Amino acid sequence: MHKHVSLLRSDEAVWRLTIMYSSKTSVTLVMINVTIWLIILLLCPGKLRAQLGTTPNIKHIVIGRCYNYITLVNPSLRYDCEEIWRQFEEAVVHQSSCNVTVKDYHPMFSAMSQTWPCDRFLFWSKTRALMHSYAAVGRHFWTLEDTLVGFMFNDLIWCGQEQDPGFDFSSCPAWSVCRNHPVYSLWRQASQNFAEMACGNITVLLNGSIVNAFNRKSMFGSVELDSLNPQRVDYVNIKVATNLEGPYIESCSQGSIVDLIQILQSRGFRWTCTDNDETLMILQCLQDLKQSSCQTCANSLLRRKIFASN
Ligand SMILES: *[C@@H]1O[C@H](CO)[C@@H](O)[C@H](O)[C@H]1NC(C)=O
Ligand SMILES: *[C@@H]1O[C@H](CO)[C@@H](O)[C@H](O)[C@H]1NC(C)=O
Ligand SMILES: *[C@@H]1O[C@H](CO)[C@@H](O)[C@H](O)[C@H]1NC(C)=O
Repeated sequence: MHKHVSLLRSDEAVWRLTIMYSSKTSVTLVMINVTIWLIILLLCPGKLRAQLGTTPNIKHIVIGRCYNYITLVNPSLRYDCEEIWRQFEEAVVHQSSCNVTVKDYHPMFSAMSQTWPCDRFLFWSKTRALMHSYAAVGRHFWTLEDTLVGFMFNDLIWCGQEQDPGFDFSSCPAWSVCRNHPVYSLWRQASQNFAEMACGNITVLLNGSIVNAFNRKSMFGSVELDSLNPQRVDYVNIKVATNLEGPYIESCSQGSIVDLIQILQSRGFRWTCTDNDETLMILQCLQDLKQSSCQTCANSLLRRKIFASN
């Protein structure tokens, strides 16, 4: 299940949870977790399969999120939520599950076009949790999930079937076996639109604790990077964040990030690259102060505060 949706952004959270539970200090949690899953597997074999189908109540969720967005999140916007849903259905419903192209979503996307202020675009790959806290404290970053389409479809699964009700609620195919997967096609187009809009200084948050921090198969590497326009973008500011406890695998001068910089340079982008960005480290330390790297961090902040008050 993890493998087939490896490009799906929401999946990174699942990974994170899995990995979180497998850290040494949480052996008991892992055991409880495993036991629960075993029980679920034994008691209801149909349940797991069902999880891979279209998200139940998808219509209510999508329309509800749309109203939430235009009413509470971004009240200045005017969109017709029912019409957006209708266009979505038009693309997906009663189609065979591997037959939805990015083009099929074009009418939906034109019903929800959106512009964003420059200097705020944040791209990321394999840094979902950190990205969320970064965007939350920064308050001035825009990620794909902040756009209407990202907000509406985040974490959802869907695929069509020819028979009624038009959605397949029991199972959806893996991305890898589909040429035109309905979920992938939507995110691909959404990511492309987002990147094409990007302007001013943009930030790219990458994970230095994994091999191939810059992965040509990720949404950033396969879609967003190619859609960035050097005429619109002033600087690509790359930030490489490693886990506090390591491993320290890639950096601005090591591994796949060097390839990214080369691509940027050859396309005429100006760029900067930062390892160990202070804000990012502080955010990570807030969640785990016991790490030794946080002690130095805390000390230097404290020193600065003392200097400042003198
Ligand atoms: C896929 O969609 C196209 C047009 O949307 C249609 O002509 C074709 O028959 C579909 N193929 C299958 C296998 O459903
Ligand atoms: C890097 O990726 C790993 C594996 O997906 C994840 O556990 C970790 O939280 C990520 N680190 C950061 C800084 O996002
Ligand atoms: C854009 O990034 C460059 C390089 O990091 C920096 O010198 C400049 O001040 C930034 N401009 C804005 C508007 O943030």
